[in-house]
Amino acid sequence: MPEIAFDPLSPEQRADPFPVYAEARRDAPVFYAPAFDLWVVTRYDDVLAVLKDHETFSSRNALRSAPREPPPEVRDVLAEGWPEMPIILDSDPPLHERIRRPITKAFTPRRVAELAPRIEAIAQELLDGFIADGEADIVERFAWPLPLRVMGELIGVPADDLPWLHDRSREWLSLYGASGSVEEQLAAAEGTVAFQRYFVNVMEERAREPRDDLMSALLAAVAEEDDPISLVELAGVPLDLLVAGHVTVTRAIGSALVLLLRDPEALAELQREPELVAGAIEEILRLESPAQGLFRETTRDVELGGVRLPRGARLMVHFGSANRDERQFAEPDRYRPRRTDGAKHVAFGKGIHFCIGAPLARLELAIALPLLLERLPNLRRADEGPLAYDPIFFARGLSSLRLAWDA
Ligand code: HEM
Repeated sequence: MPEIAFDPLSPEQRADPFPVYAEARRDAPVFYAPAFDLWVVTRYDDVLAVLKDHETFSSRNALRSAPREPPPEVRDVLAEGWPEMPIILDSDPPLHERIRRPITKAFTPRRVAELAPRIEAIAQELLDGFIADGEADIVERFAWPLPLRVMGELIGVPADDLPWLHDRSREWLSLYGASGSVEEQLAAAEGTVAFQRYFVNVMEERAREPRDDLMSALLAAVAEEDDPISLVELAGVPLDLLVAGHVTVTRAIGSALVLLLRDPEALAELQREPELVAGAIEEILRLESPAQGLFRETTRDVELGGVRLPRGARLMVHFGSANRDERQFAEPDRYRPRRTDGAKHVAFGKGIHFCIGAPLARLELAIALPLLLERLPNLRRADEGPLAYDPIFFARGLSSLRLAWDA
C-alpha cells in the first residue's frame, strides 16, 4: 500500500489538504498514519459504514487527535474539576441517549426558528460596528462574534460573559490536541476547570430559579426521564453546545466568503439569485467541511475498506474527504449550488451523533451570507497574501480574513 503523506498541520496541507485525500481515496482508502497512530478513513461509503455502526466504532475519545494522554500534571489539574462530566460527542449508548434525549426535547425546531430575528439583529449590529471602515478582519469582527452571541442567547448566558467563555472554549478544544507545551496545556486545563465550574454554577442557579432559556428547558426535560443524568452531567450540555455551536459556524462563514471571492461568477450568481443560498450553503459545507474529521475506536477486530483493523484501533473518520469522493459526487471539487445530491454530504456527520445544531447552523448561514454580500458592496480581499488557516488537526477554517469593500 503506498504511503500517504498525511500531515494536516503542515502549512501546505493547512492551505490545501485535498490532493492528499484524493490520492488516498484512489490508492489507500483506509490508511495508517503512524505519526498520529490513526487509521484515516477517506471514502464516502466507508465513512458512512463507520458512522452507522456505533457498536463496532465507539466514540470514546471522538475529539482526541493526540495519541497520548495529557501529561500527569495536566491530568492533576483536570482532576480538580469534574472529570466525570461527559461530552456528548464522545459518549456511547446508553449514556449518549440519556444525554441526547433531553437535548432533543428542549432544543426544538420552534426554539431555532424563534432565533431568526435575533440572528439578523446581531448580524446587522456587528456590521454597523465596522462597515464605515471599508476594511476589517471579518473572522474577528463577524464570524466569531455572530455564532457566539447566538449561542449565548440560546443557552441563556449574559453577553458580558461571552468573551471569557470564548477563550475557555478554545482552551477546552486545545486540550484534545495536546499539542502545546506543558505550560500551555496546564493553562488550558485550568481554563477548562473554570469553564466547567461556570456551567455547574449556572445549572444550579437554574435549578433554583428556572428561566425561559435552554438550560431551564433541559432541566425540565431531564426531570421527565426514568433514569435521569445528574446535574453535573447535564452541566456538560451547555458547555458542549457553546463550543460545538460557535467554532464550527465561524469556520463556515470564513470558508464561504473565501470560496465565493475566488469565484466571481459564483458570487455574482448568488447575488442575482438569492434563492440559490440554500444550495450554496450545502456546497460550502460539502467542499470545506468545518469539521474535517473526528475520531472513533474499534471495539472488535473488523475489516474496513479492504483493511483489517484490530480491536482498539483509533480511526479518523474523514468527513472532508468523503465529501469530495468522486464515487459519490460528480465533479466533486467544483462548487455547483444546483446539484441535487449536495445535501448527502456528511459535514454534519450521520447516525446517532448527527449534528444537533445543523438546522441552527443552516439558519445562521442563510441569514449571514446574503446580508454580508448585500451590505458590503464590491467585497474583495484586502491583501493577496496566503490565507491564514487555524492550526487545528480536525478542523478547517481561517484564523483571520481581511476584507475590503466600498464604504
Ligand atoms: C457549520 C456548522 C457545524 C458543523 C460543520 C457541525 C458538525 C458536526 C459534526 C460533524 C458532528 C458529528 C460528530 C461525530 O459524529 O462524531 C456534530 C455533532 C454535534 N453538533 Fe454540530 N456542527 C455545526 C454546528 C453546530 C451547532 C450550531 C451546534 C449547537 C447548537 C452543534 C452542536 C452539536 C452537538 C451537540 C453535536 C453532538 C451530537 C451527538 O454526539 O449526539 N453543531 N456536529
